[in-house]
Amino acid sequence: MAHFEEGTTLDRFLLETMRAHPGATGQLVTLLKQVALAGKLVSARVQRAGLAGMLGAAGGMNIQGEFVQKLDIYANETFKRALEHAGVCCMIVSEEEDGIVAIPEAFEVGEYCFSMDPLDGSSNIDTNASIGTIFAVHRRCTDGRDGTAADVLRRGRELVCAGYIVYGAGTVLVLSTGEGVHGFTLDPSVGEFFLSHRDLRLSGPTRAYSCNEAYAAQWDPRLQAWLASLKAPALGWSARYIGSLVGDFHRNLVKGGVFLYPPTPKAPKGKLRMLYEAQPLAFLAEAAGGAASDGTAPILDKVPATLHERTPLYIGNADAVAEIVAALRDGAPSRA
Ligand code: AHG
Ligand code: MN
Ligand code: MN
Repeated sequence: MAHFEEGTTLDRFLLETMRAHPGATGQLVTLLKQVALAGKLVSARVQRAGLAGMLGAAGGMNIQGEFVQKLDIYANETFKRALEHAGVCCMIVSEEEDGIVAIPEAFEVGEYCFSMDPLDGSSNIDTNASIGTIFAVHRRCTDGRDGTAADVLRRGRELVCAGYIVYGAGTVLVLSTGEGVHGFTLDPSVGEFFLSHRDLRLSGPTRAYSCNEAYAAQWDPRLQAWLASLKAPALGWSARYIGSLVGDFHRNLVKGGVFLYPPTPKAPKGKLRMLYEAQPLAFLAEAAGGAASDGTAPILDKVPATLHERTPLYIGNADAVAEIVAALRDGAPSRA
């Protein structure tokens, strides 16, 4: 990565990264600038969600006299509106939409397929805990005007870009086009994202795990044994779990950690979705030197069969992910 000092704007980063790719058409830069715009709009609404809540449930008018929409519906509409007219996408896939969202006839289509979880961590909206938007970008591989499922039901290794925006104490956009992972923090006073986390790495050992332990008794006994083996006081592990995948992943990316969402008898393929949760975060994890597995295979090697297919997910520092895969295969390690 060219040397960008702290404080570089996202726009400058995108333009200079594009210049490093001869033959780039500029469509991906335009797409990511529209993502940043939508992120600013959602961030502003998230910051005021509590005010909307003061005036009752969705459907009322809020303190700004705006119609109160559920935040995940608002996020979904905002990202679609920001992308559909820009001539850079041929289709959009969203957690909030059953099928593929086609680009309206009035607009030009472009080279890219945009898959998103417009608002991840919905259960945390009213608690002021971190929530976010997760996105994945494929270059289309079909002809014709409208993109099809074949353009996105592919291995995650074929992604051209992935990222997320976490709406927390600050709003941070984290993205990768495959070479390194970089974070940009929004300065709401000027409405710009500035480089704040250059070259985030998931390397070396970690002593932090994230999972919903309430379900542990339903997990594979070998995974339960692995988890129990961490709790020897001398090992110094700690548990951190927000209940927003994007918040848990961001903390682990910044400070190190491994996140687990294993299958249970009621959810044999896990809860998290391949296209717009597991694959984009796995793309980021591997670009940062970490790993992501479904317990037997790397997430990025799996081909989803349907748009909303779910998968077990173990993601974070590579050593910890490797330990989990080994425990599920051979049983928990004996820790001397
Ligand atoms: P979403 O809000 O997009 O449906 O995603 C929620 C997911 C994910 O953010 C989080 O890791 C997980 O649900 C939490 O699940 P539990 O409440 O079962 O722990
Ligand atoms: Mn989600
Ligand atoms: Mn969601």
